[in-house]
Amino acid sequence: MHGYSRKKTGLMWAILSASLAFAATGSTAEESSLVSFKSDVMPILQYRCLECHRADGPGVAYSGLNLESYEGLMKGTRFGPVVVPGNAMVSNLNVLVEGRAGIRMPHNRKRLTPCEIQVLRNWVTQGAKNN
Ligand code: HEC
Repeated sequence: MHGYSRKKTGLMWAILSASLAFAATGSTAEESSLVSFKSDVMPILQYRCLECHRADGPGVAYSGLNLESYEGLMKGTRFGPVVVPGNAMVSNLNVLVEGRAGIRMPHNRKRLTPCEIQVLRNWVTQGAKNN
């Protein structure tokens, strides 16, 4: 009986420390990887947003948000900015792709992958630089 419970405790510790190690490395990788606007953010916008948010697209007609360039993204909609550098919680760019508002982007399209969502969130958190 004693032997059995010791084995069980040992196993629980093994599982607990393995998951702690995983959580630790996971968060370190997330914090330290610097996101590049040109090589990480722009490809997502091009692939998932430009269909509508380009000069003659419906996303620009309705909102004024042109995602063809860094300048366009930072200018925002005709009502104001959609990116608040350093604060992904209040940036409409993140709010919409994460589905935290009444409307979601991409409009009527498959939502972004968790990985793409994380790239946009990290980029804004890291200061939304044109890097
Ligand atoms: C199929 C077309 C379409 C696609 C694709 C699309 N959008 Fe939009 N987007 C729209 C339309 C239309 C509006 C205006 C919606 C409204 O005001 O009701 C809009 C508005 C917005 C707004 C402004 C909302 C506001 O009023 O604050 C943001 C930010 C936005 N889109 C981001 C994105 C992002 C980021 C992507 C890509 C991940 C994307 N959109 C993909 C059509 C699209």
